[in-house]
Amino acid sequence: MVFPAEVNVIKHPLVQHKLTLMRQAETHTQDFRRLLKEISMLLAYEVTRDLPVKYEKIRTPLAEMDAPVLAADKNMVIVSIMRAGQGLLDGMLELIPTAKVGHIGLYREPTTLTVVEYYLKLPNDTEHRDMLVVDPMLATGNSAVAAVDRLKEANPLSIKFVCLLAAPEGIQCFHEQHPDVPIYTAAVDERLDEHGYIVPGVGDAGDRLYGTK
Ligand code: URA
Repeated sequence: MVFPAEVNVIKHPLVQHKLTLMRQAETHTQDFRRLLKEISMLLAYEVTRDLPVKYEKIRTPLAEMDAPVLAADKNMVIVSIMRAGQGLLDGMLELIPTAKVGHIGLYREPTTLTVVEYYLKLPNDTEHRDMLVVDPMLATGNSAVAAVDRLKEANPLSIKFVCLLAAPEGIQCFHEQHPDVPIYTAAVDERLDEHGYIVPGVGDAGDRLYGTK
């Protein structure tokens, strides 16, 4: 399968090394959580590459200079798809502390794998903000599509989707519905299994984050 240009796979060695540690079945919850947070900071670095800067006059101990600062650092909203999205959100907020945060709650109905929305809370000025939507696993794509369908109603300036792992099936489904939304991911894995899990994957990201298995 040829992926559209909008799929950004972050192949940085630090990301790949930490992802390998996360994949291993024997990695415990506390390490899994820490590694996801570390990777999310590295993904945040990549996803914010195109933020505009402006120049402000500052004084160093030696001289005055025109120095770059973020032009719109308070203009971002990060929306976590509950509950596993929280694992990506925490690291992103360390790097972008001025971002506002939204939450959307969706669950997959286990037999049909269709998506049901049970919670939505967004800042009230979303139409003035660039939006990052975060969920570790882009598996069938159904939750991501449903989340972005709903979030587009809040009319943000732009939307990017950030995940840890994507399945080819999820990318295809997402791009069919939202070709305007770029995807950032640490890896594209082989396939989905018959239960909708990404293979080889990391298993159930929520359970591994919170030790609920
Ligand atoms: N959700 C998960 O937590 N893991 C998968 O592999 C797919 C969806």
